[in-house]
Amino acid sequence: MKNTVKDIQDKWLPKIEAALDRYTAECGSLHPELLEAMRYSLLNAGKRIRPILTLEFCRAAGGDPENAMPFACGVEMIHTYSLIHDDLPCMDDDELRRGKPSCHIKYGEDTALLAGDALQALAFNVMLKYRVVSPHQTVEAANELAFACGAAGMVGGQVIDLKNEGRSVSVEELRKMDSGKTGAIIKAACVMGVIAADGDARLIETARQYAENIGIAFQITDDILDVTSDVQTLGKPIASDIENGKSTYVSLLGLDNARREAERYTALAVEAVEPLGDNAEFLAEFAKMLAGRIN
Ligand code: IPE
Ligand code: IPE
Ligand code: MG
Ligand code: MG
Ligand code: MG
Repeated sequence: MKNTVKDIQDKWLPKIEAALDRYTAECGSLHPELLEAMRYSLLNAGKRIRPILTLEFCRAAGGDPENAMPFACGVEMIHTYSLIHDDLPCMDDDELRRGKPSCHIKYGEDTALLAGDALQALAFNVMLKYRVVSPHQTVEAANELAFACGAAGMVGGQVIDLKNEGRSVSVEELRKMDSGKTGAIIKAACVMGVIAADGDARLIETARQYAENIGIAFQITDDILDVTSDVQTLGKPIASDIENGKSTYVSLLGLDNARREAERYTALAVEAVEPLGDNAEFLAEFAKMLAGRIN
């Protein structure tokens, strides 16, 4: 591989930050504190995994990744909104996010709730307003993301997560929960990249297979880090899942088996992009990097 995963991340990060900065600055917020809260959470040190997936899937599908930037930023806005709401006292009740006080600690629950709502709306606004690909591709991408963030995806998975607190559930139920709360947005990120490149149905299916597997691996690793990491490294509270009585792969299967499951899903993701040949090199390495991440 000519460029390492880190080279590619380093190349994209300033471009993603600049686009997020511009899109929020130009959003026309009616209240300065609302905009401040949105930007506080969004422009804070996220890893930007999802936008990088959108941009790199666009490249792997033969497109110009820059064309996918509005979609990449849209997915990061949805993701950040999900984190703001996830931290609220009525959900996981976590006071630290991306190394800083959570949005509701800094701005109050009311403003945090509304900052999340506004980021969700802005995601679609940005995808439509700043689009560089055709209206047809834009509609397809917006449809993909809207489906992924709602009852059939992220929100649905979050509800399963809350309802499972304090209960012992089956591995199949956990897979469904993780595929919804975490996998769905990751899947939309990957598929939107292919859409931006005008990739065919076969490429879209490849993106779905890859994302389904890295999505579950990603949440299993997140659950492992909740137990094994420290606040400084993670930038969010540790032992949050234990405190909330969450059902996770770690609580159900133990650390070693959870690690094995993360590796198994990662291998399936790598296998899914093999048909892309050399174009899949980054995607395969990225999947492995995510499974070995420390935050
Ligand atoms: C955290 O996502 C929430 C999950 C879906 C597990 P990330 O680990 O991608 O968080 P940021 O965006 O880097 O803060
Ligand atoms: C969150 O899962 C998934 C979302 C949809 C935000 P977690 O609740 O485990 O995420 P963290 O650990 O708070 O980032
Ligand atoms: Mg949660
Ligand atoms: Mg949480
Ligand atoms: Mg977690």
